[in-house]
Amino acid sequence: MKRIVVLISGRGSNMEALVRCCAAESWPARVVAVISNRPDAAGLECARAFGIATAVVDHRAHATREAFDQALRDAVAAYAPDLVALAGFMRVLGPAFVQAWSGRLLNIHPSLLPAFPGLHTHRRALDAGCKVAGATVHFVTEALDHGPIVIQSAVPVRPDDTEDTLAARVLTTEHLIYPRAVRWFVEGALELNAGRVRQRDGQAQCLMVPGTPAAGG
Ligand code: GRF
Repeated sequence: MKRIVVLISGRGSNMEALVRCCAAESWPARVVAVISNRPDAAGLECARAFGIATAVVDHRAHATREAFDQALRDAVAAYAPDLVALAGFMRVLGPAFVQAWSGRLLNIHPSLLPAFPGLHTHRRALDAGCKVAGATVHFVTEALDHGPIVIQSAVPVRPDDTEDTLAARVLTTEHLIYPRAVRWFVEGALELNAGRVRQRDGQAQCLMVPGTPAAGG
């Protein structure tokens, strides 16, 4: 049984998707803890309702980034995870944390990386006139929202999209690709070589969601 710790900062819908799929698909794994840097993260309540242990490491209670990093590292290590999954975790992790879990640390980001790392991805995609948007699950490295890509989803950007409508369309696919990636990880189906990730069984590492073609072609 692989042990998964999920880090969140807010709503926790990706965490919920992981927990549900883990149970429904009988992964050889379980989510042993959900840890948030925000005491008021709605996802904590949801995790408790699933009977999952929760913890809070409040970044505001630590004077420096390093001190927060250390406290978070200790909190995560207490659950001896095989995998740490960032799911809407909104703090930048320091090098010590990233190195401690190197190769066992996944993140989901709501853009087609390497485009639009950081915040406000949907607004930036709309401003750039992108016709396609999506999400990426990747191994975490020290560079923000950067690292070997496990799986991506692609959705159309519609002419009348707002940040909210685009975010909702992308989020639906996040709930599909993150569980898929984590399942591959816990089943030992991922090969990481020279910065590239291969799914050993040859399963598709992209999810294309077809949409209505834009008016006027
Ligand atoms: C998701 O869009 C995730 O990709 C991004 O933040 C959002 C978190 O949503 N990093 P939730 O907390 O999983 O509902």
